[in-house]
Amino acid sequence: MDVKEVERLIKISREHPLMPENYIPWRLEPEPDDIFLPETLTSLQGLDIYKTLSPTQKLELGRHELVQVIASYAWGECLFCVFMTRHLITLPADNVEHQFLIRELIEEFRHQEMFAQAIAKLGGKPIKQSRLHKFFGEFSNKYLPADYLFMGSVSVELVTDIYGNYVRKAPNIYPVLKKMFDLHNIEESRHILFTKALLKTYAAKAGFIKRTLYSYVILFNILFVRTMYVKKEIYERIGLENPDQAYKLATKNFKQKFANNCLKYIIEFVDEWKGFNLLTRFAWRWVLSAKV
Ligand SMILES: [Fe+2]
Ligand SMILES: [Fe+2]
Repeated sequence: MDVKEVERLIKISREHPLMPENYIPWRLEPEPDDIFLPETLTSLQGLDIYKTLSPTQKLELGRHELVQVIASYAWGECLFCVFMTRHLITLPADNVEHQFLIRELIEEFRHQEMFAQAIAKLGGKPIKQSRLHKFFGEFSNKYLPADYLFMGSVSVELVTDIYGNYVRKAPNIYPVLKKMFDLHNIEESRHILFTKALLKTYAAKAGFIKRTLYSYVILFNILFVRTMYVKKEIYERIGLENPDQAYKLATKNFKQKFANNCLKYIIEFVDEWKGFNLLTRFAWRWVLSAKV
């Protein structure tokens, strides 16, 4: 990894910190026309059922789903902080990677606080992770080697980055959310640069088997992000008559939309180090509907 480049990233982080306290206009309340999640990212848009929703139901769907997205980010980032802290102990304090990870930890903790504040501001009630999510999240965090965890983290960052871009560019998005995603995007792009550089060396050394395993770790991380989001309970909250049916339809609908809208960067990244092969390509197509 290029030490000079990492030092440059550390310098920006130290000299230009973005503090959620003043960067985000917390005092602004949503205007009547403001939305919380662009329609194309909601799980029901594209289905016939969506056309039957009232404007209030559509707005509420976006609010609940956005809260779920932020809560999932916060949880995922918290897990990653646990890993980074453990990894930090293995590195000498004068090591540039050590210094960068400290900056990343500081920023990630600020993000978690910012996400929690946004949830409170939206009056959100995040739904807890399923037992399966919890188990895999905690298990992989504890037992997977560092390179696999960095692979997982960069994949989530690349997917959520696209996500943030949709929200930031939506014309009538609630300004608090726009600024929150702006801040996150700026700081996460530094994390992505660092992690990608770090992983270049791992991926360059990796043979067929390791590249296959990396590819699967990434695939499961993305599946994880996608499925933390579509929830039956949300359809109950917005008063749908048949939430079970809506859940079934939305799962299928969102799988396709997610594949069309959110996988571009991650596919490019995996392709860079030949992560698509005989053993992985079919799984990407099958599980994620990815065009690979
Ligand atoms: Fe973050
Ligand atoms: Fe990050």
